[in-house]
Amino acid sequence: MNIPFSKVPLAGNESRYLNEVLESGWLTTSSKALIFEELFAGFVGAKYACAVNSCTAALHLAVEAIGIKKGDKVLVPSLTFTASAEILRYMEADPVFMDVEYGTGLITPALLKEAIRVNRVIKALILVHYGGQSVILTTSDGEGILDICRRSHISIIEDAAHAFPTKFDDRFIGSFGDVTCFSFYANKTITTGEGGMLVTDNEEIYNRAKIMRLHGINRDIWARFTDNKSSWEYDVVAPGFKYNMPDINAAIGLAQLEKAEYFRAQRQRCATFYLNEMKDLSSIDLPVCNGSMENHSWHLFPIVIRPKAPVSRNEFIQLMANEGIGTSVHYKPLHRMTYYKETYNLNPEDFPNTERIWNGTVSLPIYPELSDDNLKYICQTIKGILS
Ligand SMILES: Cc1ncc(COP(=O)(O)O)c(C=O)c1O
Repeated sequence: MNIPFSKVPLAGNESRYLNEVLESGWLTTSSKALIFEELFAGFVGAKYACAVNSCTAALHLAVEAIGIKKGDKVLVPSLTFTASAEILRYMEADPVFMDVEYGTGLITPALLKEAIRVNRVIKALILVHYGGQSVILTTSDGEGILDICRRSHISIIEDAAHAFPTKFDDRFIGSFGDVTCFSFYANKTITTGEGGMLVTDNEEIYNRAKIMRLHGINRDIWARFTDNKSSWEYDVVAPGFKYNMPDINAAIGLAQLEKAEYFRAQRQRCATFYLNEMKDLSSIDLPVCNGSMENHSWHLFPIVIRPKAPVSRNEFIQLMANEGIGTSVHYKPLHRMTYYKETYNLNPEDFPNTERIWNGTVSLPIYPELSDDNLKYICQTIKGILS
C-alpha cells in the first residue's frame, strides 16, 4: 500500500478550463479570475471577493485594509501556520498568542475573554477555523466570538485557510466577519495550485484590497492588454503588492469550485469512517466535532496520541510511514518557533492545551479519493501499532 497524506482530486473540468485559457493567448489575470471571484462570493454569500495568489497574500491585504499599524496588538492562536502571524509582522504589529481548546483546537469565547482581560488594548483577532471547523461565532445570549469582538471593538480577520466549505449554523464562513481569507494551496479542500481569496461585505476593505493587490494601481490594468479600446493610462495611489491570481490558476479553481460540496461530503465520509472505527481506542483522542458533521469542511483529521500510549507520536509517524501511510503534524505551535519564541519571550507553560495537542498530534490522510479499503487499511494499521 502507498497512501499519501494528501492527493488532489482532478476529475472535473480542470483541463477544459485550462485549455480555454491557453487558447485565449492571455495567461495572467483576466476573465477566468473575475468569474471565479463572482462565483466564489456567491457560494459563501459575501458581497465582494478578491482573488489572489495565496491565503498569505489575502491575510496581508486584509490587515493592511483594516488599518493594522506598527505596535498594534493582535490576538492569534498559537496552534496555526506561521502565515497567520507573520502578516502582522509585515505591518510591524505584534501578535499576542492564545491557547486553544483541547479536542477542537479552536479558540473559545472563554479563552477570548481572558485574553482581552489580560491584554486590554487589542486591535484585532486573527480567527483560525482550525481543521475546517468553525469557532463559535455567535450565540443567542451574545457570547459568541463575533459578539464579544464587536462589543470590544476588536476587528476580526478570519483565517479560513482550512474552512471552505464550512458553515456556522446555516451560513458559510465568509459571510460573517469583517474580512475572510481562504487558501487554495495544493493540499486544501479546493485548490488552484497556489492561490487564495479575500471576501468581505465592506466596500472600503474591498476597494483597498483590490488596489493593493496590484501595485497600488487605481484600475484593473489587464483590460488594456485584452481590450483594444481600453485606455493605457493608469495612476499609482499607494506602494502596493503583486498578489493577483493568474487565469491559469483561476481556471483550475473554477473546476474545483463546481465540485466543492462533493469533495466536502467525501471527506466527511472519511471522517465518519475514522470516528466509527477508532472510537474505542484508548491510546488516542479523536477530534471533537462541535456541531453537525455537515458544517465541517474536514480539511484535517488530527488525532492525539495520549502520553500513556505504547508509542510516542514520532514513533507512530515512523511506523505508519513503514506501512506506506503518509501523515503530517498540524502544528508545531508558533510559541515554539524560534522567531516568535525569542521575539516575544514565550513560555510553553502559558499554552497548556496547545502543548497537550502538540505533544501527541498526528493528522491522518483525509481526501475524496481515499477508498473505504484505504480507510480500513489505515485503521487496522493504527490498531496494530497501538495494541
Ligand atoms: C491556517 C493557515 N493559514 C494560512 C495559510 C497560508 O495559506 P497559503 O499557503 O495559501 O498562503 C495556511 C497554509 O497552510 C494555513 O494552514
